[in-house]
Amino acid sequence: MKLFDVYPINDINIVKGEGAHVWDDNGKKYLDFYGGHAVISIGHAHPHYVDRITRQVSEIGFYSNSIRIPIQQQLAEKLGEVSGKKDYQLFLCNSGAEANENAMKLASFHTGRKKIVAFSKSFHGRTSLAVAATDNAIIVAPINETDNIVFVPFNDVAVLEQYFAHHGNEIAGVITEGIQGVGGINIATVEFLTAIRNLCNTYGSLYIADSVQCGYGRSGQFFSHAYAGVNADIYTMAKGMGNGFPVAGIAIAPHIKPKHGMLGTTFGGNHLACAAAMAVLEVMEQDGLMQHASEMGTYIMEGLKQIAGLENVRGRGLIIGFDVPESHSHLKKELLWKHRIFTGEAKPNVIRLLPALNITKTDADILLNAIKVEMLHVPA
Ligand SMILES: Cc1ncc(COP(=O)(O)O)c(C=O)c1O
Repeated sequence: MKLFDVYPINDINIVKGEGAHVWDDNGKKYLDFYGGHAVISIGHAHPHYVDRITRQVSEIGFYSNSIRIPIQQQLAEKLGEVSGKKDYQLFLCNSGAEANENAMKLASFHTGRKKIVAFSKSFHGRTSLAVAATDNAIIVAPINETDNIVFVPFNDVAVLEQYFAHHGNEIAGVITEGIQGVGGINIATVEFLTAIRNLCNTYGSLYIADSVQCGYGRSGQFFSHAYAGVNADIYTMAKGMGNGFPVAGIAIAPHIKPKHGMLGTTFGGNHLACAAAMAVLEVMEQDGLMQHASEMGTYIMEGLKQIAGLENVRGRGLIIGFDVPESHSHLKKELLWKHRIFTGEAKPNVIRLLPALNITKTDADILLNAIKVEMLHVPA
């Protein structure tokens, strides 16, 4: 059997990781400012994480949700403390798409309605509802097409208000990232998120905060939507939650009531996944990683703003983007192949930085210097 060829890949075989670094099978060392797409939150092979997972799998790795799994409750409590959402309820699943799928489904169950409002340049995942709510026609299969998802321009309060004025009573929920990741690091404004909250209150719809990429402390706040000072009804999370172990969840406001059988999954919330998630939260708390992410983000963005040629440096904490001029459209490749630094991208010509939350100033300086060198270089 061969692999189903859906990923454009770099020809690199990573065999080892430690902190902000990874090594390939030739022993070459790389600096990781991509975090495997915002997934590595506490660094590769963090000793506490390795120890927690190793101990758990040697005891019990998995049993289904048909029995009591106390580590789920421990995780819910810890997550409530670290995120500041102590009165919310946790449903555990396995991926970002699944988290969003469950969030939208729950909004529909709760309201008895069918319509979800999503926004231009959004990305919510690849399963049926999640991909339907994603603003990228290429990845939406005919079977995923549905009139139940409606797109409105991102950050446009007037158009959103207009849509609600006509259809508010049909809307189950509104889903938005606090900072669009795949869309190119676009920050939702305070006015926009506040308007979503107010409209959802007025019309009895649910506000779903997709925090899969921008959440879990990356922005300097646990949920980046918190910068607007209003609560969402459901927060979805994945990526950084397990530092590479597939674990995801939704945090659900107390006014939304559960019913047996309403949601479910085989693997979600298994012992091993919970141990991985616990280890991440313990390290985040112990090492003050949200504060660190915030400080390092400011440091890196200030550094980027000093580099001639880069435009529109933006982000919060360690979810950062900047525009690269067409003359340097190969910057991401140059950083990888010449400087051995992994970064992310968004089309067209946006570089995305999504490093582990404990990245150091020394590593940030290495990245900034490499970008400086490349920007001074005039391509032939
Ligand atoms: C904002 C956002 N939501 C959802 C997803 C989907 O997550 P997953 O790939 O774990 O299904 C992603 C993945 O990039 C994302 O960035």
